[in-house]
Amino acid sequence: MEKHANFGSRMGAIFAAAGSAVGLGNIWRFPMLVGDNGGAAFILIYIVSILFVGIPIMVGEFVIGRHTQSNMIEAFRQLAPGKWWRIIGVMGIGVAFIILSYYIVVSGWTLYYAYSSFSGALSDPDCNYGAFFGDFVANPWLSLLAAVLFMLMTHLIIIRGVQNGIEKCSKVLMPMLLLIIGILVVCTFSMPGINEGLTFLLKPDFSKLTISVVLAAMGQAFYSLSVAMGCLCTYASYFGRNTRLVSSALSVSSIDTFVAVLSGFIIFPAVFSVPGVDVNAGPGLVFQTLPYVFNMAFGNVPFLAYIFSGLFYILLFLAALTSAISLHEAVTAYVHENWHITRKKASTIVSVSAMSMGVLCCLSFGVLSHWTIFGLTIFDLFDVVSSTIILPLGGVLLALFVGWYLNRELVRKEITNDGQVSQRVFPVLMFLLRWVAPIAILTMFIKGLMEMFGM
Ligand code: PHE
Repeated sequence: MEKHANFGSRMGAIFAAAGSAVGLGNIWRFPMLVGDNGGAAFILIYIVSILFVGIPIMVGEFVIGRHTQSNMIEAFRQLAPGKWWRIIGVMGIGVAFIILSYYIVVSGWTLYYAYSSFSGALSDPDCNYGAFFGDFVANPWLSLLAAVLFMLMTHLIIIRGVQNGIEKCSKVLMPMLLLIIGILVVCTFSMPGINEGLTFLLKPDFSKLTISVVLAAMGQAFYSLSVAMGCLCTYASYFGRNTRLVSSALSVSSIDTFVAVLSGFIIFPAVFSVPGVDVNAGPGLVFQTLPYVFNMAFGNVPFLAYIFSGLFYILLFLAALTSAISLHEAVTAYVHENWHITRKKASTIVSVSAMSMGVLCCLSFGVLSHWTIFGLTIFDLFDVVSSTIILPLGGVLLALFVGWYLNRELVRKEITNDGQVSQRVFPVLMFLLRWVAPIAILTMFIKGLMEMFGM
């Protein structure tokens, strides 16, 4: 059997995992939820969830991946032979595949919006942004072309392998992404709505805190860190023996939270700069409200508006690309290792099959919009099934598996790198994995189901 791949450096490993975590969730979903749920109070709960639920599960996934040096299905096969715990691995890879097939659709949109910003279509003063978005997503050829192009880019990176593809590309794309965010944050200070935007983001209004806001914050923390879907477990299988698992998880989560909060700093001052625009515009915020807002907010300097909008959509595209790579890799690693075929063949199988499902998701905004199950289009169904059902369930099982089933000494050894790293956090981590994470996630899960069935 060929030697299992490895990341070449610790930095590369952190950038790759951070690339997985930082995605559309940070720049598109997080600001939308902050807008809907009242600003700073939501952010506070989000950070608490990252600390007490997200990070422990991430460490748990790192432990499993690095210890077994295998993809997620194989990892559970090794750790729990013949036991039903193995279902966690199957769920992880399965959900990565489902998310990949709809993620490429929205990622294709980012590509088209970046193109439209630079072609000037989005800075046309007569542009009706709602219609622009609606026409685009309902146009089967254009939206499919965008998704296929995006998938092709992901594919070309994956076939180059772990070090030459994923690691090299993350080391370039992540700093680029951080640089673009930095430039955009500086630009927002010239916007008239800066004070109002900052107040909204920094001054908590606890009267807005309801149980569903808390649960939304926790769900978002989970989604944003990419836990429980095989990606981090697979990446951890490429970690070296000297990579410190807890501090890596802290670095990845800090980068992820930093990017999410900064996206808020980019978006809200812009939104507050334009009278009559609502902060709680929902999913349309990034694709319908923002192009308009960018144009208006820099009304007297059209060139700034043009650059700001172009850079913003490139940012969104880069974030989506590094996340899609990790979703693809989770499935590809399994097909490559367990079906005993070359990496190239494995990744082609994954790209083609995910793209075929992606076609259905893409068309569900147009010609297939009447295909619904429980009132949900195919796209919505994939999103709901993965993020409301499989992810939380996988998260609880993962926490329970590492907290209760896995040999305590094995976990301690991985976390302390065989005794070389201090073990002070170990008992805290175990307590969070055994009790706090499962209870918190189960509450979120039940609440999610109740909402889905209109209870
Ligand atoms: N964490 C990513 C984001 O914030 C989403 C994602 C989910 C990435 C699953 C990989 C796997 O957008």
